[in-house]
Parts: sequence; structure tokens; C-alpha cells
Amino acid sequence: MTRRPYIVGNWKMYGTRAMLSEARAIDRAAQRHMKVEVALAPPYTLIHPIHREAEQIAVGAQDCHHQDGGAHTGDISAAMIADAGAKFVILGHSERRQDHGEGDALVRAKAEAALAAGLRIIMCCGESAGTRESGKAVEFVKQQLTASLPSAEAMPADIAERLTVAYEPIWAIGTGTAATTDDIGEMHACIRALLVDLFGEEQGRDVRIIYGGSVKPDNAAAIFAVPEVGGALVGGASLTADSFMGIALAASEPFEN
Ligand code: 13P
Repeated sequence: MTRRPYIVGNWKMYGTRAMLSEARAIDRAAQRHMKVEVALAPPYTLIHPIHREAEQIAVGAQDCHHQDGGAHTGDISAAMIADAGAKFVILGHSERRQDHGEGDALVRAKAEAALAAGLRIIMCCGESAGTRESGKAVEFVKQQLTASLPSAEAMPADIAERLTVAYEPIWAIGTGTAATTDDIGEMHACIRALLVDLFGEEQGRDVRIIYGGSVKPDNAAAIFAVPEVGGALVGGASLTADSFMGIALAASEPFEN
């Protein structure tokens, strides 16, 4: 099955209610780009307000706790974000792994909790500059993903609907320099082979693999032309409707032929 390209904005720790007008503009523009699936992951505080108004885009969260509830001050569960209107959650982002010491086992537990709450998940992976320089990027990412993803048995039947993998090399995030199309192509092909290994030919082939790390309107088309790139996870350039939808527009083109 050919899936629509998936363009997801990760607003990180940016956005107060003043940004709702931007989300509205993104939602309106997404209605004109129906060949692309556009989604936004704002901070928790904006999930419900954006969900309430959005007609086209799905809203998601940037993290969730691995337990259903309990004495965990400041945390939020998968069921709570789903209740606020989230349809998906980003997990294992390198900023959470770095800032909060999240390891693969915890990320996997979060993924299981999110799936149990009926959410779709975007599972992030990616190597540091040092790992790439040492020539071990592919090995590292395969290991990280294998340890962070729930096992095939713990996955719902519709794996390809519920799981997206985001390859985000840490050195490309927020630097203005995306990975080269060769590096992206090599890594996405390896991730595809791993997904087929883990989840079988039929499901593993259909899971979307998206790229993140300095995607902008002017490099998006080249990135989307790379085999096995099914969309983008966009940070800085998702904060304005103009640049974010410039990326969505680039995504609608290579898939039209
Ligand atoms: P930038 O697009 O700002 O590089 O961020 C990428 C990212 O981390 C998305 O999750």
C-alpha cells in the first residue's frame, strides 16, 4: 500500500495560546493539500485547544508517562493526552533521551502504554555526531530501534497504521544542516530491512519512515525524493504556517507521478 506522505510538526517547548492562529492557518492550508497527512505535536497545554478547532490535522503529544496513573508529580499519561484530543505521541526523541535520561527500556514501556491507550506512535531514533564519525551509525540506530520498539507480539494487529519511525540524526537537529540524501537513503533502507525483520514482510514494508533534522521548504523536495522517505518530522520550520506548509507542498509533489 502506498501511504500518504506524513508531515509532522514538533513544536517542542514553543507555543502559548498566541500560536493558535498559526495552528489554524496550518489546518486551513492542510485542507488544500489532501495528498499529504499533516499533523502537529504542540506542547501539552495546546493539545486540547488545537484539537477542538482543527478540521483536518491530527494533534499529538511529544511524550507521555509509561504508567496509567499514580503519584508522579508533573507527569501525564497516554490516556490523559488521548482524552485531551491527541491521536499520536512522539516517543524516544533525542532531546528526551538527553534531557531526561530516557533509555530504550523506558521508551519501549511508553510505547506499549501509548498503544494500549489507542494512540499512534512516532518512534524516534538517531545517532550522535561521534557515532557517525566512528562509522557505527547504522549499527547504533538498528540497536536503538530494536530495543525501543515493542516486540511484534506486543504490537497491535494494524502495526503499519499505528507505528511511524522517525530517523533524526542528533547532529542534524536544529543545526540548519540536514543529513545528506545519501546518508538518509542508506539509513532508511536499513531501517526498512529491520522493520521487515521485526514485523514481517507485509507490515514491516508498510510502516512509514520519516526523516527529521533541519528540514526546510528549500531542502524538503530533495529529501522526499529519497527512496523510503515517507515524510518529515519538523522542528523549527513547523512554527509558522508558511514554512511548514512549504514543506507539505514539497511532499505532495514527488508522490503525484
Ligand atoms: P529541526 O527541524 O528544528 O532541526 O528539529 C527536528 C526535530 O527534532 C523534530 O523532532
